[in-house]
Amino acid sequence: MRRSSAQCGINFTPTPIIAVMAYLVTLIPGDGIGPEVAEATVRAVDATGVRIEWERVDAGLRALADFGQLIPDDVFASLEATRVGLKGPTTTPIGGGHQSINVALRKKLGLYVNFRPVRIMPGLKTRFQDLPIDLALFRENTEDLYAGLEHEIVPGVVESLKIITRTASTKIARATFEYARREGRAKVTAIHKANIMKLSDGLFLTCCRETASQFPEITYNELIVDNACMQLVMRPETFDLLVLPNLYGDIISDLAAGLVGGLGIVPGANLGDHHAIFEAVHGTAPDIAGKGLANPTALMQSAVLMLAHLGEREASVRLQDAIEQVYTRHESLTGDVGGKSTTDQFTDAVIRR
Ligand code: NAI
Repeated sequence: MRRSSAQCGINFTPTPIIAVMAYLVTLIPGDGIGPEVAEATVRAVDATGVRIEWERVDAGLRALADFGQLIPDDVFASLEATRVGLKGPTTTPIGGGHQSINVALRKKLGLYVNFRPVRIMPGLKTRFQDLPIDLALFRENTEDLYAGLEHEIVPGVVESLKIITRTASTKIARATFEYARREGRAKVTAIHKANIMKLSDGLFLTCCRETASQFPEITYNELIVDNACMQLVMRPETFDLLVLPNLYGDIISDLAAGLVGGLGIVPGANLGDHHAIFEAVHGTAPDIAGKGLANPTALMQSAVLMLAHLGEREASVRLQDAIEQVYTRHESLTGDVGGKSTTDQFTDAVIRR
């Protein structure tokens, strides 16, 4: 029996479906290191024994070259049918060229939550290895300056529109607090710059405060974004869940990745009411693309989230455990985390575990 993987929202513990023979998942390998880490992740997921029928579709530069479209129609058609995607990074040119594929996918599919758990990997040597870092970002995923709504008013003057709405802000706040309640997390910190952007970030804070009042058992506090950056570097272990507008969420994700070993590690999930796309925080890493050096951990850990989302809890835990065992033994790690192994060698080690 084939089935669409239609369990959505941010519930990582959906009701298991009995007698599922194969899940249908859209696979978007992406650009740069995307195809390498996607292939590695598919091998690791397949090794868990969960049967997934991967529907491969191209978006990004390869799709543009082959079909003349950055997001061909079959990408949306596939995601409409499967409801679940695993995606590699896609190129967004700097200072011109096409708009972000991610922004388009997130807006079109209503993927309003960008969930990014940031945890220290057992055994991995980092500057902060002795600190119990275990935080998660809930980044609003559809609006803010990150929507890229810009225009030139007159030559030499451009305007970027920062749109913040009550609807989107309340949805991300609710998603954060509901996750905190379900997973027994203690604290939510809202990140803002409402001292300067009193209306836009002010509205975001109002929505967070209103939502916080409905979850009295969870500690709620607020930090101005610049101070939050400093506190994250000085005392990362004191953070629990962070809720942020889109642009601060983008920047702080990379900062947080730096606390736990870099972009090769940190996974992510874009979640909406009807669809979910799992992808790493990192980009296409053009400096190492095609060399077999990419660390697939971040996309593999995104697949761990995907397996849980599909209701395959046991396989999800087993894959996470296998990845952690490889790190604990400092066996077959890639160069970005201090090893000498290739993408394939690391993947083989995970599969062996
Ligand atoms: P990047 O994340 O691609 O690379 C930053 C640094 O981290 C590089 O030194 C790279 O080698 C390293 N790195 C990243 N992932 C790694 C991995 N898995 N293993 C080992 N090292 C890794 O960021 P950059 O260079 O700013 O962006 C490159 C392109 O990626 C841009 O076009 C950008 O728009 C796009 N991008 C796409 C994203 C997505 O599709 N989700 C997310 C972020 C950036």
